[in-house]
Amino acid sequence: MIEIRDLHKSFGKVKVLRGAGLTLLDGEILTVIGKSGVGKSVLIKSIIGLIEPDSGSVTIDGVDVTNFSENRFNEEVRPYISFVFQGGALWDSMTVGANIDLALKIQKGLDERERKTRIEESLRLVDLGGVEDIYPEELSGGMLKRASIARAIATRPKYLLYDEPTTGLDPILSNVINELILKLNRELGISSLIISHDITGTERISDRVALLHDGKIVLTCDAREMRYQDNDIFNEFINGKVVYDEG
Ligand SMILES: Nc1ncnc2c1ncn2[C@@H]1O[C@H](COP(=O)(O)OP(=O)(O)OP(=O)(O)O)[C@@H](O)[C@H]1O
Ligand SMILES: [Mg+2]
Repeated sequence: MIEIRDLHKSFGKVKVLRGAGLTLLDGEILTVIGKSGVGKSVLIKSIIGLIEPDSGSVTIDGVDVTNFSENRFNEEVRPYISFVFQGGALWDSMTVGANIDLALKIQKGLDERERKTRIEESLRLVDLGGVEDIYPEELSGGMLKRASIARAIATRPKYLLYDEPTTGLDPILSNVINELILKLNRELGISSLIISHDITGTERISDRVALLHDGKIVLTCDAREMRYQDNDIFNEFINGKVVYDEG
């Protein structure tokens, strides 16, 4: 379980998070929605120490990691929480296989043969079997997303954080990625926190959905009950209307 409590984060005078709180339960898929620039990426990056909050706390499986050093995040948090970056973020100068191998080398204790098996398994799970020796630039956008998901699952994480996994993909590829997220959750039991603008996909694969607005999570509900919420900001958001900040 990941518990985010009363998180505050400002950049200069801009207060991005102002008391955001959220709990990711074991085994669930939870999607955070919210308009562009509201601080969704800042929120999930705070979990793995890529952003240092000003105050508040992040607790993972009962351990408060908020003030962990970079070293402790590397050793104690990042091995079991993987992050799928908004842009994919594979190294262009390395093959897909080498990219995944890099993530595996950070997690000590696997020899070369075990790493090779992991790379093959992970690529097969995302339906990209056999692309180890191909360079990222030779892949299509959808394949690239799947390759970055393969890298994220190679370390067999307990938690997966996805920052906009379907943004920029056509509806068919978005479906493929959504089904993949669901499969990894159901088959490997990976608890998943997703940032998304894809309302239909969210409704289909998520267990719960939360809205980040004005620096706070203003509503959390069952994804199947998204259409029946008594909250104007949420309803306007999921129906695609413009939402203005109060602050
Ligand atoms: N490292 C940083 N330094 C300074 N400002 C930052 C930094 N990271 C984020 N911000 C600011 O924090 C705000 C929230 O950014 P964030 O990337 O979290 O938005 P978002 O909700 O993920 O948006 P999008 O949907 O477009 O990805 C923005 O105003 C952004 O400029
Ligand atoms: Mg973002």
